[in-house]
Amino acid sequence: MLHLNQIHKIFNEGTPDEKIAIDQVNLTLKPGDFVTVIGSNGAGKSTLMNIISGVLVPDVGEVQIAGKDVTSMSEFKRSKMIGRVFQDPMAGTAPSMTIEENLAMAYARNKTRTLRRGVTKKRKEYFREVLETLHLGLENRLNAKVGLLSGGERQALSLLMATFTEPSILLLDEHTAALDPSRAELITNLTKEIVAKYQLTTLMVTHNMQQAIDLGNRLIMMDKGQIILEVNEEQKKQLSIEGLLAEFKRIRGTQMASDRAILA
Ligand SMILES: Nc1ncnc2c1ncn2[C@@H]1O[C@H](COP(=O)(O)OP(=O)(O)OP(=O)(O)O)[C@@H](O)[C@H]1O
Ligand SMILES: [Mg+2]
Repeated sequence: MLHLNQIHKIFNEGTPDEKIAIDQVNLTLKPGDFVTVIGSNGAGKSTLMNIISGVLVPDVGEVQIAGKDVTSMSEFKRSKMIGRVFQDPMAGTAPSMTIEENLAMAYARNKTRTLRRGVTKKRKEYFREVLETLHLGLENRLNAKVGLLSGGERQALSLLMATFTEPSILLLDEHTAALDPSRAELITNLTKEIVAKYQLTTLMVTHNMQQAIDLGNRLIMMDKGQIILEVNEEQKKQLSIEGLLAEFKRIRGTQMASDRAILA
C-alpha cells in the first residue's frame, strides 16, 4: 500500500545549517498495517510524514502509494489518498466554518467529480450519523463554528474528517499530544475504532512508548533520520518499554537515562 524506497532528505544542503533529516529510509506497509513510530525529537518522524503526504519532495528516492509512483505528485493531488491529523488541534479544521461545512469540505476532497461541495439533506443525515459515532454530541451542533469547540472535540472532528472518506494512508503525527489525559484516551480509543472499522493503513507517531507498544501491529523506531528498529507483529506482542530501551542501547551503544530521553 505504501512503499518508501531509499528516501533521502537534506535541509539547507551545503550551508553550515545542513541537516540530514532522512537518511536512506526504506519502508513497506501492507494494506491494513497499523505502524506506530517512535523516536526522539528531531529524529525525522514529521519529515517522513511530510514526504509521504507530498508537503516535501525527497532529494533521492521514491514514494509509492497503492502501486503508483507519487514522488513528485503535488500535496493537493495526493490529499485524496491521504488522511492526516496533526498535533495541533487547530491544524486539521477550518475554525471560521461550521462543523457541517468542515465535513462537507472533507467529503468533497475525494469526490470532486461527482458531488458538489454543498450540503444536501441526505448528506446532512450522513454527517449526523458519523458524528454520533464520536459520542460527543457534535451531531446536535452541526451549525456551530469549529473555532468554538474544545481541543479534544476538534481533534475528534479532525480524525473523522481525515478518515471518513477511507484514505489509502492515514498519517497521525502526535495527534493526542496536546490533549489532557482523558481526552487523549478518548481520541486514542476513537483512533483504534476507526482504523479497525475501515482497515486503514496507518502510520502513527507518538512519544508515548506504552501506546506505541499497545497500538497497531508493527512498530518502528527512528533516530538521526534512519529507521533503526523494526518490530513485527509477533515480536510486538512480547515487547516492553524496558525491551525497547535495551534495543536502543544495543543499536546506538548509548545508555538512555530513562524512557523520557526517547519520549522527550
Ligand atoms: N523545513 C525545515 N528546514 C530545515 N530543517 C528542518 C526542516 N524541517 C525539519 N528540519 C530538521 O530536520 C530534523 C528532523 O525534523 P522532524 O521535524 O522530522 O523531527 P521529528 O522526529 O518529527 O521530531 P519531534 O519529535 O520533535 O516532532 C530536525 O533536526 C529539524 O530541525
Ligand atoms: Mg515531529
